[in-house]
Amino acid sequence: MLPFSPPHIDQAIIDEVVAALKSGWITTGPRTKKFEQLLSDYNGNPNTLCLNSATAGLEIILRWFGVGPGDEVIVPAYTYSATANVVMHTGATPVFCDTNLTDFNINPSCINHLINAKTKVIMPVDFGGFPCDYDAINQLVNSDKNKKLFKPNSENQEKLGRILVLSDAAHSIGARYKGKMTGTLTDVSVFSFHAVKNLTTAEGGAIALNLPAPFDNKAVYDYLCIATLHGQNKDALAKMQKGNWKYDIIEPGYKCNMTDIMAAIGLVELDRYESFTLKLRKEIFDLYTIRLKDFDWAEIPPYETEEKTSSYHLYPLRINGITEPERDAIMKMIFDKDVSVNVHFIPVPMMKFYKEQGYSIDKYPITYYNYSREISLPVYVDLSNEQINEVLNAVIEAVTKMKEKK
Ligand SMILES: Cc1ncc(COP(=O)(O)O)c(C=O)c1O
Repeated sequence: MLPFSPPHIDQAIIDEVVAALKSGWITTGPRTKKFEQLLSDYNGNPNTLCLNSATAGLEIILRWFGVGPGDEVIVPAYTYSATANVVMHTGATPVFCDTNLTDFNINPSCINHLINAKTKVIMPVDFGGFPCDYDAINQLVNSDKNKKLFKPNSENQEKLGRILVLSDAAHSIGARYKGKMTGTLTDVSVFSFHAVKNLTTAEGGAIALNLPAPFDNKAVYDYLCIATLHGQNKDALAKMQKGNWKYDIIEPGYKCNMTDIMAAIGLVELDRYESFTLKLRKEIFDLYTIRLKDFDWAEIPPYETEEKTSSYHLYPLRINGITEPERDAIMKMIFDKDVSVNVHFIPVPMMKFYKEQGYSIDKYPITYYNYSREISLPVYVDLSNEQINEVLNAVIEAVTKMKEKK
């Protein structure tokens, strides 16, 4: 079976992990701190905090901003459930927003209709690694009308004086928008380093802080280190220093730090990310596009425009003129050829829990339309040209069969 997105684990990663294991320090320590610094250098944002998942990063930022019951957070209907789940964890209400017809991302004019006095945060998702319309989103939160509407109820909300833009950049490390890197496009961005992501640490994530003045990003970073480690005012490495055993708990913190074993993988991945990973992923995207673009049923996903460059995380092909059951039948035919494909995503309002909360996909017609005809093709650095052709043959044959039946 041709897999969908296996990790690329080679000797360089194994050597660095073994070095971490033998170093005498395996939890958060020098490798994690180095990885954080190199992430900030790569992305160009002032400070980065590594954690054990993107989910933890998104939730901790919502809590840092004081989001809770009675507040609303605008999220795209077309995302992975983690984006909305973290809002639920805080007791606030996720307000789903429909997406663009073209690129799967949150639609800024829909956001505009949803903003009200309860809105505290907007969480755009760079679907598949393609950046959202950040100028439009940042303009919305900075407009006089929306600033006047904003009712701060925490110290950090007071300090920002407007809605926070928290990018769910789980897919988009290395993407560009108008020449700027993800991580510098909004107040805060959160990356995922889960096993299927472009840059992995097995599990893992990072908060890229890019808060405007008067925030001191280093001070926020220092606070978040404590908030994500039990609320303890010294980490394990600091406590190890001679005689430095005493510590205090300043709040009932969370426990979601990154270990140096995870960071060891990340250091190797980041070092070759631009020259190896992104380069190869782009080549795969291009090979898919070259062959598919001549079929009138194939809608090629946008991944490079004048203003935006994707991180080439997902290749979300859309098939024109089919229904959701027909898409599912095409998927089955592709799997029958021993080729793995996927659907990104089943929209959150279609999930049992969210339906029970009263959400309905009927309110997000573009999201449903895109979902109903979407098939994600495998993209990973070890995918050979022969395998790319195998995928293409399986997809083309399956769609052709389906079209002939109609
Ligand atoms: C859009 C999106 N947001 C958040 C997450 C959560 O990432 P993590 O598994 O690192 O918590 C994912 C994971 O796939 C995702 O696709």
